[in-house]
Amino acid sequence: MNTVLLTGGAGYIGSHTAVCLMRCGYGVIIADNLINSVREVIPRIEELGGRAVRFHEVDMCDERAVEELFSASPDIGSVIHFAGLKCVPESVREPLRYYQNNLGATVTLMQAMQRHGVKRLVFSSSATVYGDPETVPISETAPVGGCTNAYGRSKYISECIMQDACKADAELSVVLLRYFNPIGADESGRIGENPFGVPNNLLPYVAQVAVGRREKLFVNGNDYPTPDGTGVRDYIHVTDLARGHERALRYTEAHKGCEAINLGTGKGASVLDVVREFSNASGVDIPFEFAPRRPGDIAVCYADPRKAWELLGWKAEKDLHDMCLDTWRWQSANPNGYTD
Ligand code: NAD
Ligand code: WQD
Repeated sequence: MNTVLLTGGAGYIGSHTAVCLMRCGYGVIIADNLINSVREVIPRIEELGGRAVRFHEVDMCDERAVEELFSASPDIGSVIHFAGLKCVPESVREPLRYYQNNLGATVTLMQAMQRHGVKRLVFSSSATVYGDPETVPISETAPVGGCTNAYGRSKYISECIMQDACKADAELSVVLLRYFNPIGADESGRIGENPFGVPNNLLPYVAQVAVGRREKLFVNGNDYPTPDGTGVRDYIHVTDLARGHERALRYTEAHKGCEAINLGTGKGASVLDVVREFSNASGVDIPFEFAPRRPGDIAVCYADPRKAWELLGWKAEKDLHDMCLDTWRWQSANPNGYTD
């Protein structure tokens, strides 16, 4: 069996990708230090994926623990590297912690891969590497590195590290997946996004308002140069994203070198579009109030997704209605996340 190591695989995107890979016949090993996730997700992944997961509680910055993990798992054929801290405002307050964790984990992982002859890697990058884009839709040839926060720069520098490693080792195969805005949940409602504390991102916040955990949504900015004045993003269903990882893994099995590929739908939706669609899908009114722009936010961001189709044969299949419906199913069945 083809075995894949998922660093950060207990998290939101990793858990959905694990299920997708298990359903496609891959063996899955998850290494996660649970800094932003909970152990309770593992049995749910097993339930949906229909087989056992090998779970290791490991900090990917801990060289000795990572070496032990690879030594104990000689069947690892490829790696998907999700592990990282991802909160933008926190990264502005604590840049060193973000660089230490996100870059430390990347380097430690790649050194272990080198020692153990593992040559295939898929990386969770982000549309944030494009910063404030000059034009939309954003293609992979757009300038990168203009990010305004330590989180975004940690993704950009990780990409540079991987590109340099590929230049030095012609046998390496790396796909840098630049996600746009992942939302939604597995349609079973058994796994989903489970943020600790007050959510930073739009969808988990809206879902918590809908379920009565928060009073109302604050819409940050209604004076952007967009049709309704609110920010426009390319929301993509997390199970579409998960399928994109499976395709990227297949790609690494047949190609060498480093490719950056956008995973988005190519369509933009405003904050008010999302609120409207979520109300439709859930049947719950979402009270909201306009509030100032968030510092560092951009007006419009959506992908040119053609390269993913050309190289991976992948495109998004689910629309905003599906994304809201599935988020609502997860949130209403698990109002307090995995602690329910
Ligand atoms: P998440 O926080 O739910 O998952 C990340 C996982 O990594 C968590 O389970 C966390 O415990 C683990 N982790 C963090 N540091 C670790 C370390 N040093 N060692 C081991 N485990 C560690 O986040 P997510 O939304 O699933 O994101 C997955 C990846 O995708 C992240 O790298 C994130 O930056 C990237 N990404 C996310 C988004 C998004 O909007 N969710 C967008 C673009 C890129
Ligand atoms: C979407 C829209 C907000 C919350 C972030 C990271 C990015 C990537 C994805 C990891 C914006 C508005 C939000 C709220 C609001 N992550 N909003 N009220 O900012 O596009 O991207 O997550 O790589 O790096 O920056 O996503 O969901 O936070 O915001 O009005 O309470 O919703 O202003 O227009 P964003 P988001």
